[in-house]
Amino acid sequence: MNVWTLLAQNAGFLPTRGSVMIDFVFLAMFGIILILGVSIYLVRYRRLFQLHKWIQIVTGSVLLLAVLAFEIDMRFFTDWQELAAPSSFGMPTVNGLLYFHLLFAVPTPFLWIYVIWHGLAKFPSPPLPGPHSKTHILWGRIAAIGMLLTAVTGWIFYYAAFVA
Ligand code: HEM
Repeated sequence: MNVWTLLAQNAGFLPTRGSVMIDFVFLAMFGIILILGVSIYLVRYRRLFQLHKWIQIVTGSVLLLAVLAFEIDMRFFTDWQELAAPSSFGMPTVNGLLYFHLLFAVPTPFLWIYVIWHGLAKFPSPPLPGPHSKTHILWGRIAAIGMLLTAVTGWIFYYAAFVA
């Protein structure tokens, strides 16, 4: 079977029960976490403030679009419960893992919007450390940890629902 047939059947491209969109988000989160790590390294140890700013704006925008596409897919096109039904974990555990994941996945986008918005409003352009630094470093760390926990709990949910 070629890749187009698989895509047309919404069967996903990983050898699991995930759909195209579910597989895509599962993989994309590795990239997002890697880029986030690089961005924080660049601002902390290399003091590349402008580069950090643009990496965060671009990844934040791409994430927002991806979340939107994912939500539309889950609500209208993909019945994830049907795909997860054969899981050896059983649906109560799979659902529990989903709620645990949503605990981080729901607030994190709001944290990101807040951190980016305030960064743009309160740092000069091009950005430099200043009076906003203390608040930004605190909430920037919380936002970054939120994204990391969103990814890790998402991967665990993916494994339980679509692999096991
Ligand atoms: C969700 C988006 C963002 C996250 C998660 C984030 C995260 C962080 C973190 C964790 C640090 C502290 C690094 C350290 O430990 O020293 C930091 C520093 C910094 N960020 Fe961001 N950031 C984001 C967006 C932005 C934006 C949009 C701007 C500029 C408009 C910006 C400008 C800065 C600056 C200037 C610093 C250095 C502060 C200082 O050391 O005094 N950040 N960021």
